[in-house]
Amino acid sequence: MRRHRLTVNGEDHEVDAPDGEALLWVLREELGLTGPKYGCGVGVCGACVSLMDGRAVRPCVTAVEQAAGRRVTTVEGLSEDAGHPVQRAWLRLDVAQCGYCQPGQIMSTVALLAENPDPDDRDIDEALRDNVCRCGTYRRVREAVRLAARLARGEAG
Ligand code: FES
Ligand code: FES
Repeated sequence: MRRHRLTVNGEDHEVDAPDGEALLWVLREELGLTGPKYGCGVGVCGACVSLMDGRAVRPCVTAVEQAAGRRVTTVEGLSEDAGHPVQRAWLRLDVAQCGYCQPGQIMSTVALLAENPDPDDRDIDEALRDNVCRCGTYRRVREAVRLAARLARGEAG
């Protein structure tokens, strides 16, 4: 067991966890951030996607010590009132079905738009390729990514 200092959603935390503990469990069990979901546990489904220094990571396969000194953002950290452009797009297009995969879809989209503010369909498919949705919301996800990009650019109200 070791003490780890983490910055999550703009707040500093100290947590006790063994080296190698998955960041996902620290976020969910120690910090109560249940936005990142447990799906596969081996980095292939995307349900847990969160950001580390603005880039998409999979906390189920990220050791807690890898997060030291980095800025971790979960879906809870995007905004307090769902006012982030990606959240607004998701709500407007009513993307979620069961919702389980959606935090990961949203965080992958945030990372995509930070790198590419005007993605085409191929860019979107590539960026979200490994975000699995068993409810089959892929078409709405793609539409929401395009709307989020327009909202973020101030081209849609
Ligand atoms: S739970 Fe992390 S990628 Fe599936
Ligand atoms: S909305 Fe149900 S798994 Fe994607």
